[in-house]
Amino acid sequence: MIYLNGAFMPIEEARIPVLDRGFIFGDGVYEVIPVYSRRPFRLPEHLLRLQHSLDGIRLRNPHTDSEWGGLLEQIIARNHSDDQYLYLHVTRGVARRDHAFPKGVSPTVFIMSNPLLPPPAELLTTGATAITAEDNRWLRCDIKGISLLPNVLLRQMAIDVGAMETVLLRSGFMTEGAASNIFVVKKDLLLAPPKNHLMLPGITYDVVLELAKEHGITHEVRAIAEHEVRTADELLLTSSTKEIMPITRLDGRQVGDGRPGIMFSRLYRLYQEYKDKVMRGGAINTL
Ligand code: PDD
Repeated sequence: MIYLNGAFMPIEEARIPVLDRGFIFGDGVYEVIPVYSRRPFRLPEHLLRLQHSLDGIRLRNPHTDSEWGGLLEQIIARNHSDDQYLYLHVTRGVARRDHAFPKGVSPTVFIMSNPLLPPPAELLTTGATAITAEDNRWLRCDIKGISLLPNVLLRQMAIDVGAMETVLLRSGFMTEGAASNIFVVKKDLLLAPPKNHLMLPGITYDVVLELAKEHGITHEVRAIAEHEVRTADELLLTSSTKEIMPITRLDGRQVGDGRPGIMFSRLYRLYQEYKDKVMRGGAINTL
């Protein structure tokens, strides 16, 4: 069951006009929110980032946070899995094709849910494979926009050579993955690129840095040069749907000793413990 502009319906029945500006221009933003045991994880943070994205494209938020919370709750209840990921999408609505913002048009609001499956155990024990590519996206990568053509093409470069993700480099520095954030580990130091207009401010990225702070893991948030990525002892990938994953091969060469490292094991365990704690406690998570 999905939600579209005020109504709940099976996805097969959902229709949007071809003149929707999401379809014509990619003029919209989205969020992906993980749900564990039927409770959204870090909902306030996701809604804050949604507001940031809407502000970035100058589109008024069609709902208050508590309205969003209510809609998401209903979608969760109407779908089968206990663990889901919610996809929430807002476009500038339906109007005659013209680049200028239309006047007096309601935004299109769409929410769907899919089962959230844990990554295959094999990926966690052997690690994922990645390639690198020049980051050729625009300069507002902090906006979670639905115009994902560059990300799609960059990710496909990895798929075409049997890899899972593309690590992006811009002018000699690492930004993020095609659909994930990337951390670099050198010995026992965890390195994260700074949040700015060149990367999406990941919710999982924030959790990892919070855990590092709380548990005394030495870490630095600073620009990461390409050679640091290439000589890393470990590379970690984070996203709401993949949580934390080790990257053990980059551009056909092994990362460190080619096996998931100690930093990965530690952060993975801390992340699972944190998730369990938040899901049991609830307070941090509700609006
Ligand atoms: N993508 N960077 C990019 C470009 C992303 O698309 C994503 C997530 C992230 C990680 O952010 P978070 O930890 O908040 O999920 C970073 C989602 C999962 C997607 O597009 O499906």
